[in-house]
Amino acid sequence: MDIFKQTALFKEETIALRRHMHQNPELSGKEFATTELIIKELEKLGIEYIRPAETGVIAIIKGRDNGRVLGLRADIDALPVEEETGLEFSSVNHGVMHACGHDAHTASLMETVKILNLHKDELNGTVKFIFQPSEEFLPSGAEKMVDSGELNDCSAIVGIHVKSDMPVGKISVEPGPRMAASAGVDIKVKGKSGHAGIPSDSVDATVAAAAIVMNLQTVVSRELSLDNMAVLSIGTLNSGTARNVISGEAVLEGTCRYYSDEAIEHVIKAVERIAKCTAGSFRAEAEVSVVPSGCKAVINDSKLAAEGAKTAEKIFGKEALCHYPISGLNEDFSKYSTICPLLYVLIGAQNDSKFEPYPLHSSKLQIDEDCMDYAAAFMAQFALDYLAQDL
Ligand code: NI
Repeated sequence: MDIFKQTALFKEETIALRRHMHQNPELSGKEFATTELIIKELEKLGIEYIRPAETGVIAIIKGRDNGRVLGLRADIDALPVEEETGLEFSSVNHGVMHACGHDAHTASLMETVKILNLHKDELNGTVKFIFQPSEEFLPSGAEKMVDSGELNDCSAIVGIHVKSDMPVGKISVEPGPRMAASAGVDIKVKGKSGHAGIPSDSVDATVAAAAIVMNLQTVVSRELSLDNMAVLSIGTLNSGTARNVISGEAVLEGTCRYYSDEAIEHVIKAVERIAKCTAGSFRAEAEVSVVPSGCKAVINDSKLAAEGAKTAEKIFGKEALCHYPISGLNEDFSKYSTICPLLYVLIGAQNDSKFEPYPLHSSKLQIDEDCMDYAAAFMAQFALDYLAQDL
């Protein structure tokens, strides 16, 4: 049996489901119609499901009962982005768009349900299909799925993400760090406001804030080792109210992305030290807070990654496997690591002959819908292979 070929049976339905979702996207935590849509599909198939939270669904296919339990996860939420793709199935929800490919993830997972439903008798164990809400914004949907307790019996959970900078037909199944942890950086600089014509009577918060931004550049470049790398970016600097007023207060907001506790522990101390000392050198003061968001780094289990690579090679051929560099993107998939080892797989979705590449979260993002067959075939075959192992 060729699982990859079997995706053809459901290709049209999968594309239709994805396009319906794309046209009707819902923001994180508000995926009510999407949840109903998923349930309707499951009921048509006669698949058992549970609703572990207000939005989101866990579908269950039980095979032979002596095996393990594997979780397969897709996120279902969209982003607050105004779509500019010009596609005929563009979003009808003003200012909301599936700009991260979660519509493709959901449709792929539904396709996986359909394929594995055909192979139920060959499954030596149980598969839980996690249609997870609220990946993009806190509170984390993954945390809700974990807290429900419905996944406590999983011995591994696999997540997928499409990538618009990877050609369709390619797949990355690699061990170790995949997605970064994230911390919010907030700095308030307090000076003394006054007349712009007489700066000597004031303490200029803008000047101190600008110097802090520049001095923070040395945290990553001079203080962190290659073992404990990180990215530190200041995204906003707001200061002042008028051209002829020296600003008395500046507010900076930024983010740190990292992979190790050592890195963030050092960044917390360094940002505090540099911001406070720099402000002090200008007679200003700084209040500093660097707080981890709660989503840790996604680290792939090396055994699962080796098994996953074997599965991918078996169905797509060795040339489909590719290396995707680690990035500073953040994912709440790491929340599942409190239950069991994880495998996070990246699926190529770009096709230069059909459309221009745009990054994930872009208002012009497009994907090659063939990527869903790769995602579904991988998840289905991995479930069969993983559950077939002797314990
Ligand atoms: Ni995403």
